[in-house]
Parts: sequence; structure tokens; C-alpha cells
Amino acid sequence: MKTIGVLTSGGDAPGMNAALRAVVRAGLYNDIRMMGIMQGYDGLLKGNIDDMNLSSVADIIHRGGTVLKTARSEEFATEAGLNKALNVIDIFNIDGLIVLGGDGTLKGAKALSDAGIPTIGIPCTIDNDLAYTDYTIGFFTAVETVVEAISKIRDTSTSHGRASVIEVMGRNCGDIALYAGLAGGAESIIVPEIDYDIDEICEKVLRGRNRGKLHHIIIVAEGVGNPYNIAKVMEDKTGIETKVTVLGYLQRGGTPNTVDRIMGCEMGKRAVELLLEGKSNRVLGIKCNNIFDMDISEALSMKKIFDVEMYNTANVLSL
Ligand code: F6P
Repeated sequence: MKTIGVLTSGGDAPGMNAALRAVVRAGLYNDIRMMGIMQGYDGLLKGNIDDMNLSSVADIIHRGGTVLKTARSEEFATEAGLNKALNVIDIFNIDGLIVLGGDGTLKGAKALSDAGIPTIGIPCTIDNDLAYTDYTIGFFTAVETVVEAISKIRDTSTSHGRASVIEVMGRNCGDIALYAGLAGGAESIIVPEIDYDIDEICEKVLRGRNRGKLHHIIIVAEGVGNPYNIAKVMEDKTGIETKVTVLGYLQRGGTPNTVDRIMGCEMGKRAVELLLEGKSNRVLGIKCNNIFDMDISEALSMKKIFDVEMYNTANVLSL
């Protein structure tokens, strides 16, 4: 293993830069030539690749986004795209790859490994929707962003005596809604994994109002559906003015918190070591605070289990 390529792909996540820095520095520490591939798999197909040195990753551990930039590549997912990528990898004499991203990125890592390119994946996505790992890089920073937003929205909701429906990201996964809803003291959390009863939510809001509560925060995961419809039904049934805030891309940016930086540092270094140990088709994860690696195909075949106990805790505490 003389040359390692690294790319970031899919939605960016806070902590990606910390992981990238760790990959590049661990590679250079081991006298490996490190090459940065710009704009994810898209950049790989275009040969948008350059050498990276210690300075390329200086001053980035605390920055959100990804300095390598990112993209979602439809072409790479095709057979022709994969063959193009293999040609480029050959032209640049890349012996192994480390890819940073979510589900789609890891599928790409598997395709490259299957085609004979040693590839390691690092889970970076705010969604925390990968079943094999407790947490993904970027998740906790996004949750903190949402919790901060909930506090701000609660101030204005209280002042006006309004209800607020706050839509958060997560694709089909309710983890951002669950963690931020619990930490933010939301009255109700609506996630795709659990059926909800709008009458129960309205009843809770009315019970709160009757004991003098002036704010009602309902967190809705984006996978549930249109938050404006939920707000309309709530307003009609309770008579309480209900506003909607879609937090959107705000959740993807910002300086990564300590947890996401540390996971990035640990996983980035370990990814390089795995390639040097001759491993391929492995993905990194964290379980009970320990970094581990496992087979990508196995990891991707696992079904994410929603934390119903935490959801129940949130319900009990928001009576
Ligand atoms: O996967 C991260 C994520 O931010 C999801 O929560 C969201 O559904 C999606 O990406 C948005 O994707 P895009 O950046 O392509 O609009």
C-alpha cells in the first residue's frame, strides 16, 4: 500500500473534516502518499484528484462541511460509472480508498471492494440511520443545533402563547427528532418508526394549556410527512395558533462538537491502519464507546432498531 485516496460523499456532516484530517495525517505518518478526491464519487469519475500534505488538513478540525467538497453521484451507481472509477484509480496508482459518508457512500465502498480495490468506510451522516453503529459522525452536532433551535423557538412560543411544529432532518430515521426532542423538552415527538395519534397530541397540548403552559413544542422528523398538515390539524382541533419551523440545512453545518471530532480522529486513524493491515470492505463504527470495524456487506444488511425505550422516556417526561 503506497498510495491511499480519500473522499467525502453524500450529505456533509460536522466532523467530516476532523475525520479527513485524521486519515491524511495517519497516512503521512506511515509514509503513505495521500491523495484527496474532490466532490465525492463524482470527482473520482472526473479524475479530480490531487496530493494532500500536512498543510492540506491544517486548521480544519473545527470546521463544519468538508474541504474536499461533496456530491451525490448517480453515474457512479451504474456499471459504466464503476468501470470509469476503476480506470481513474488505476491511472492515479491509488492502492486503497477511504470513503467518508452515509449509507449511499458505504454502498459505493462495497462496490469498489468487490471490484478489487481495498476500501474502508467511515460513517459520516447527521441522520444516525446506520444500524451497525451506535452513532455516526455528525449526529450529535446536529442534535445540539436542533436543541438550541428548540430553546429559541420556545422563547417566542411562550411569549405569544403559540404551539410550534419543528421539522428536523433524518431522512427515514427518527433519531435526530428523538434525541433533540428529549433533550429539548418537547411536548411530543413524531417519528416515522412509531404511529402517532394526532388527537392524543392535541389532548396533551390542551391539558398543558389548562394548567397554564404557554408553549407547546412538537418535533416532527422529516420522514413523517408534511409538517404544515400536522400544524393545520392541530390548530383546527385545539384552537391554539400553531406555527411551523423547518430547520433544514441549518442542521448540517456548524463547528463539530467534541464527540464528533473525537470519533473522526479515532476512526480516521483506524481506517488507515486497516488498509495497512491488508483489510478491505470494512466499515468503522462505535459500540459502547469502543471503535470497531466490520464487514460492509454485513453492516449494510442490518436493520436499524429504533430506541423505543428512549421514546417512552420522552413521553413520560412530557406528560
Ligand atoms: O442524509 C443527510 C440529509 O441531510 C438528510 O437528513 C436529508 O433528507 C438529505 O440529506 C438532504 O439531502 P440533499 O442535501 O441532497 O438535499
